[in-house]
Parts: sequence; structure tokens; C-alpha cells
Amino acid sequence: MSVSETDSEVSARLELEQTQRSEGWKLLRGLLRDQRRNLVIGGVIGITWASFKVAIPQVTKFAINNGIEKDGPLLGWAITIACLGVVTGVLSGLRRYVAFRESRWAETLLREKLFSHVLGLNIGYHDKTQTGQLMSRASSDLMQIQAFIVMIPITLSNVIQIFAVATILFITDPVLAIVAMLPLPFVNISARRFSNRIHPISIAVQAEQAQLANVVEESVSGVRVIKGFGAEQVQFEKLEKEADDIFGEAMKAAKIRSNFLPAIDVLPALGAVGVLGVGGHRVLSGQLSIGDLVAFNVYLTLLVWPLRNIGMIVALGQRAAAALVRIQEVLSTNSEITDPQVAKSLPRATNSQLGAIKFDHVQFGYDPVQPVLTNFNLEIMAGESIAIVGATASGKSTVARLLLRFYDTNNGHIFLDGIDIRKLKLRDLRQEIGVVFEDTVLFNDTVTNNISFAKPNAAQADLERAAKLAGAHDFILQLPNKYETIIGERGFSLSGGQRQRIAIARAIISDPRVLVLDDATSAVDPSKEGEIRDAMRTVMSGRTTIVIAHRPGTIALAERVVFIDDSTIAAIGKHEELVASNTRYREVLASMEQSKTLRSTESAK
Ligand SMILES: Nc1ncnc2c1ncn2[C@@H]1O[C@H](COP(=O)(O)OP(=O)(O)OP(=O)(O)O)[C@@H](O)[C@H]1O
Ligand SMILES: [Mg+2]
Repeated sequence: MSVSETDSEVSARLELEQTQRSEGWKLLRGLLRDQRRNLVIGGVIGITWASFKVAIPQVTKFAINNGIEKDGPLLGWAITIACLGVVTGVLSGLRRYVAFRESRWAETLLREKLFSHVLGLNIGYHDKTQTGQLMSRASSDLMQIQAFIVMIPITLSNVIQIFAVATILFITDPVLAIVAMLPLPFVNISARRFSNRIHPISIAVQAEQAQLANVVEESVSGVRVIKGFGAEQVQFEKLEKEADDIFGEAMKAAKIRSNFLPAIDVLPALGAVGVLGVGGHRVLSGQLSIGDLVAFNVYLTLLVWPLRNIGMIVALGQRAAAALVRIQEVLSTNSEITDPQVAKSLPRATNSQLGAIKFDHVQFGYDPVQPVLTNFNLEIMAGESIAIVGATASGKSTVARLLLRFYDTNNGHIFLDGIDIRKLKLRDLRQEIGVVFEDTVLFNDTVTNNISFAKPNAAQADLERAAKLAGAHDFILQLPNKYETIIGERGFSLSGGQRQRIAIARAIISDPRVLVLDDATSAVDPSKEGEIRDAMRTVMSGRTTIVIAHRPGTIALAERVVFIDDSTIAAIGKHEELVASNTRYREVLASMEQSKTLRSTESAK
């Protein structure tokens, strides 16, 4: 909210908030509708529970009036009250169980929906959003919603309890009922004021928590960089600041709680004092039985919790509404890259080779006004291998991302085996393109699962074939548990080259018709480069391959070199030819060689 907001901006913002809120409620209604049956069961249990709870003081009254006052048999009454107590206890447990089961179920469904939605969003969305922050915000949002849903059947029985008790009190003695209940509306008013004060602060606490989570995530994932630069103190100070902020906000909330909650506790006690004063006189003057007076007091205590709970649900409802709005905001973001309505299928294996690629007048920029590639035309024959060479940030990786449809072109088309890739199902397209990214990500799992990541049911033979092709089989057999060794962040540490070979095996396990290797030798010690190159040569044979390469040795593996300069293809030809004829190509190669050396000395530190 900026100070300089104009009236029309304010009304536009309010309108947006309004639609978001109503969308949020729609989401909640949808969730609840799916669980209608169980919510009804919960409601029925709650109502039964409330009726038993309300019946007990009535029986107590009879016990006092008939048993104690008239010297009647007390045992029967005592047993009745005990039985009612047991039933109430059982129902109370059941009521909670059903309420929690439903709310946890709703939370689970919503979490799954959210997670699958976020995973389905295109890369462009993930570029712009800090996903860690998003997910941590989402978990606290889901908790708020869960806390609200759990209260729904409980509140229902509370409301019924309040009505039943109030009716009984009024029937017994209207004047006394008014005296007893006079302070009670203030319980509600206090609870509502309390909720209004606490709400913005609980939002602030959530926001601070999300920031803290971000710093923690950053510190953990960047621990090597932090240590490498001796920046532990800097990072710790950041963390300390966020933690202090949370503490500050949480203390504000604690102050508000400690101011309001006693008031909410004291008010019903005032009612009880009134009942004793006025009711005492009525008993003495014979207008009221002792049983009624005792019952009255018990009933008053029965009102306190439901009233406080209703106050609480107001607060919870507000928080849940805010949480729902945020979740709805994520859910309503549509992926910009989706399957076509009518998908074509790729030609299947015939006698002729597959994997022909054509970039036709492609123009693309992450920000369309700043094109990274313009007038990019390239035809790659099926089975051909090409190397893409260009200075850093010239758009080499972008070519691979476009081919995988991580982003759509701004103009022009890309064809795979003659079919526009936008006409293919994303799954079909990506299954046919194996890719090794610049930064190899290994999951914290076994070697087997890392390789067969996209094909979980792969046969062991396929797995080993891929590993052998990628030159990974031999070193995998040296690992403590061979293919079952846990690798990744918290597992057995592999060298850069080993990681890369696992990534190559992962890329080729489903035998894709196209293979993209982005800088696959960058993290590798030059002395080990030869081994990877051998592996690359094997996997490249008979398969369309795009190698984004920096080192002459790797570039030479390809049949043709595509040289990108000035956001378009500056030259195509054999490596030696380009070296001989193109000065700019020589310059770029030389500068890359330099920066590579720099980088590898840095990473070796
Ligand atoms: N997700 C993104 N959002 C916005 N701009 C991006 C994004 N990714 C890359 N760019 C920009 O697009 C340009 C091309 O990037 P690209 O990653 O394709 O370069 P590259 O040739 O692969 O470089 P390198 O050799 O360093 O890997 C760069 O200017 C980069 O800053
Ligand atoms: Mg790159």
C-alpha cells in the first residue's frame, strides 16, 4: 500500500481483494462439499454430544431437589449422572476425532492440489517466484485452513449448546438468566476485538517466518559458497535479523493475547457472582429451588467455552480466509505452456532415422523486448550431431530450453520430425529428448533411482545398458552398495565427472531420439575429460545430439558446429573450418578457454 495510491487505484485494489476473497471462499466451499457426508456425521455427533452435556445439569438438579432435599435414593441419580458423563466423554472424543480427520483430510487434498499445480507451472513462473518461500507460506496457510475446518463441526455443536443452555436458563428463571448472561455478550465483543487486533500481527509473523525459511534454504543450499568465501558470519547475521524480527512480531502477538484473554476469562465470573447474589435471595425467599441454583451455575460454566470458541473461530476464520486467498492466488495462476487441445503424435520408428530438428525463424527473449535469439534458423538432420558454440550469455542454453518447451518462442516455430513441438503433448516431447543440464542435480536417492528417475519401472538390464553407455557402470560397481548406494546431497559424494556420467545415463535410459548435453564437461577435471568424451562419443552415435560445448576436444566430437553470435547464427561449419576462417570464432573460443580455466581453478579450491 503506497501513500501515493490514487482513489481509482485504491478501488481497483479493493475490488481485486474482494474477488480474491470470494474465490478463496469458493475454494473452501468446494473442499467442504467434497466432505459433506463426513461433516454431517461430525455435526450429528456434535449435536448429540451437546444434548448430553446439557442434560447432565438437569439430572443434577433433579438429584438435588428429589434426592438431597427430599431424602430420596441418591444412588440411582448418581449412576445416571455417571452414565451420562461416560457417554458425553465418548462422544466428545469421537467429535474431535471426526473433526480432525476431516480437517486433516481437507488439508491433505489441498496440499496435493497445490503441489501438483505448482509442479505443473511453466519454468517462467518458477523463474519469477521464490518457490521455497511459496511452499513455506503454503504450509502455514494450509495449517490455518486446517485449524479453521476442524472448528466447523465443533462450532456447530457449540452454537447448539449455547442456544439450548440459554433456553433452559430463561425457562427456569428469566430474570436470573438475564443477570447471568449480561456480561456474556462482552465475551464475544472482546473476542472479536481480540481477533481484529491479532490478525495483522499473525500475518506479519507468517511473513517473517517465510523470510526466515528463505534464508535457511539459501544458507543450506549455498553452504559451499558461504564457506568458500568465509561468509558464515554475514549469513548468520542475516539469519539473526530474521529470527529477531519473528521474535518481535511474536511478542506483539503475545502482548495482545495477555491483554485480552484475562478479560475474556473474568467476564463469565461476573455472571456467576450475579447468579449467586440474585439467585441466593430467590432461594431464601423460596422462589427458586437449590437444585435450580446449582444447575444454573453449572450451565453458566457450560457457556464459557463455547463462547470463547466462537470468538476463536472468528479469528481463525479471518486467518483462514487470508490463507485461502493466497492459495487461490497460486492455484489460479495458469501454466502458460500447456498441452495442445488436439495433440499430434510423433512418427514411430521406421526404416528411416528419427530425430530431425528444425528451428524456423525463431525469435525469443525472456523479456520479449530484449531478444536473446533472433532470426534463428537451423536444420539438424536425424542422427546428426552438432555443437553449439558461443560466448557466455549468447543464448546457447536457451536453444535447449526452447527445444524442450520450457519457454515458447515469441515468433517462429520449432519442429521435431516435421511436427511443430507445440502440437505435441509436453510429455511426449520431453520423453523423446534426453537432456543433461549445466548444473547436474542428483536426488538424494539410490544410483538406480537417480538413473531411472523418469522411468521408474526400468528393467535392470536397461539401467545397466544406459550406465555402460554413459561410462558410469564401472565406477558404480566400485561404490559401497553398487547400484543401491545412496547418492545426492546427503548421500555418498561423487566427483563432478561421476555426477555428470550419472546424469548422462539418466538422459539416455529411455532411449530418446534427441540428446542435449549442455556443457557436460564443465565440472570435469581436464585429465578426466577424455573419459567423459569417450562416453559422449558412444551415446552420440546414431542419435541426434546437440552438444553445448566450450572445449575444443568436445566441440570436435560433433559433425557440425553452430556458432551463435549477436543473438543469431553467425556461422555453421566444421570446427577446423571455422577456426581457419572465422576470427570472431577464434576469439570466442579463446575467451571461453580462459574463463573455463578460471572457473575450474575456483571450483577446485
Ligand atoms: N530465466 C531467465 N530469465 C531471464 N533471462 C534469462 C533467463 N535465463 C537466461 N537469461 C538471459 O538470456 C541470455 C542467454 O542465456 P543462456 O543461458 O542461454 O546463455 P548461455 O549461452 O547458455 O551462457 P553460458 O555459456 O554462460 O551457459 C543471458 O543474457 C541471460 O541473462
Ligand atoms: Mg548455458
